[in-house]
Amino acid sequence: MVLGPEGVGQRLGVRSQGMKYRLATHDDADAIRTIYNREVLGSTVTFDLVPRTLEDQLSWIDEHSGAHPAIVAVDDHDRVRGFGSLSPYRPRPAYRTTVENSVYVASDVQGQGVGKGLLVELLRLAAAHGFHAVIARIVGGHQVSIALHRSCGFELVGVEREVGRKFGRWLDVVLMQKLIDPGAPEPPSA
Ligand SMILES: CC(C)(COP(=O)(O)OP(=O)(O)OC[C@H]1O[C@@H](n2cnc3c(N)ncnc32)[C@H](O)[C@@H]1OP(=O)(O)O)[C@@H](O)C(=O)NCCC(=O)NCCS
Repeated sequence: MVLGPEGVGQRLGVRSQGMKYRLATHDDADAIRTIYNREVLGSTVTFDLVPRTLEDQLSWIDEHSGAHPAIVAVDDHDRVRGFGSLSPYRPRPAYRTTVENSVYVASDVQGQGVGKGLLVELLRLAAAHGFHAVIARIVGGHQVSIALHRSCGFELVGVEREVGRKFGRWLDVVLMQKLIDPGAPEPPSA
């Protein structure tokens, strides 16, 4: 059964009151890149090293439409407070039932349930679009993101050791996974 956004949110305990979740548009590009570039420049949670230009961000939004959407969390004034996306996991065609998620929340509203609201909405969209598995790749030691994904039913798959390097440090990647509907009947052969 695929629950609507309220149903999924209630089941997973979303507590971001007053926030709305909608598909991202070109008008959101600047707000999205402001949130993202802060992490590019100041943290290891993204392995990007160079901040996104407005042009990069617009192309990213174009790439994240249709089956692989980008969404934003907006407050009462339609101000973007966070964003998330589903991306193809790997280019080879047999991976097409799997997606990779990402979630970013503005620093002044972290810890208020916005990240969870975004992830719940991404899981709803992944189910609605017929995807089977969702993968999260999280920098080693990022306990908040690991807890966020665990609270939405993701399980630890394993750790890739020292696969990244940023700010002069080796970085591990923690791989987590959620099967959307493990009880569903097998699809016809690929
Ligand atoms: C990681 C991030 C997306 C989490 O979003 P958030 O809005 O801060 O988190 P939420 O308030 O929705 O909390 C979701 C869950 O995370 C956990 N969590 C949140 N803050 C936490 C903290 N300080 N310590 C431990 N766990 C925490 C809790 O399990 C919580 O679930 P619960 O409400 O059921 O208890 C957000 O902090 C962020 O954008 N960080 C910078 C970018 C980033 O790291 N993105 C993820 C890349 S993998």
